[in-house]
Amino acid sequence: PVLESRSIEAVAKYIKENDVNRVVLMVGAGISTSAGIPDFRSPDTGLYANLAFLDLEEPEDVFDIGFFRQNPKPFYALAHELYPGRYRPTIAHSFIKLLYDKGMLLKHFTQNIDCLERQAGVPGEKIIEAHGSFASQRCIECKKPYPNDLMKQMVGTRKVPCCDCGGYVKPDIVFFGEALPRSFFDSMPQVAEADLCIVMGTSLMVQPFASLPQHVGRRVPRVLINMQKVGGFGSRADDVMLLGECDAGVRKFAKAMGWGDELEALWEA
Ligand code: OAD
Ligand code: ZN
Repeated sequence: PVLESRSIEAVAKYIKENDVNRVVLMVGAGISTSAGIPDFRSPDTGLYANLAFLDLEEPEDVFDIGFFRQNPKPFYALAHELYPGRYRPTIAHSFIKLLYDKGMLLKHFTQNIDCLERQAGVPGEKIIEAHGSFASQRCIECKKPYPNDLMKQMVGTRKVPCCDCGGYVKPDIVFFGEALPRSFFDSMPQVAEADLCIVMGTSLMVQPFASLPQHVGRRVPRVLINMQKVGGFGSRADDVMLLGECDAGVRKFAKAMGWGDELEALWEA
């Protein structure tokens, strides 16, 4: 193994001794739950457990392109709740910004559509929004872009936006049945160049994102910060797990690096 032990202190030592500066992160909804945005698969609090009111056969249908084409209403009922602008980034988001400020961030892969990493100050060119975002939208039939201000208005009043051609308008979120953005595949090779991998707040249940951690080099430590063990973590000698809240995990990580106060200050700013 590369690490002296499977502890965050050993990771901190590794970072300092090896001048680590190519950190790759892979994150999901769990980094935003403390901001008030539900995740998908947590048993009681997750979105999929709370969609009964939408009358769906399968909760995942709300993000299914075939279903949306038939009936976009359930999605727009949710969009009203999830629309960006109402939430503040968490300290886990600030931790990502801190890695960037330290010159250590190679790439941030996110499955989240909440745009909170941008809001925390991480520059767009470092972020791969693997499942798209609410930042833009277009007609699902003729692909014509739809204006932001109109979109905001429609979502705010719980209406379904439509194109001149009659097609429904959908945010550029990747639905089940749709391809991930090119940028995801173009950036995948960078995972193999990482000198540290951090996975936070994701169940690693949705492919192809879920396979990213497998592309990390064999002799490169991988840190999991999540409520539970996921994705076969622990199978490698240099896997380190901080099981529990993301916010507590990044605080522990920062403290081990001697960045505790800096992280708090960044988050409070
Ligand atoms: P999930 O809901 O599947 O997983 C969230 C993970 O984060 C779970 O393992 C939780 O236990 C954990 N978690 C939740 N809150 C946490 C906290 N405060 N601290 C630590 N861990 C916490 O969400 P994702 O993995 O992001 O796709 O889901 C992947 C994709 O499935 C989403 O991008 C979405 C969904 O269908 C689309 O919408 C296209
Ligand atoms: Zn159209």
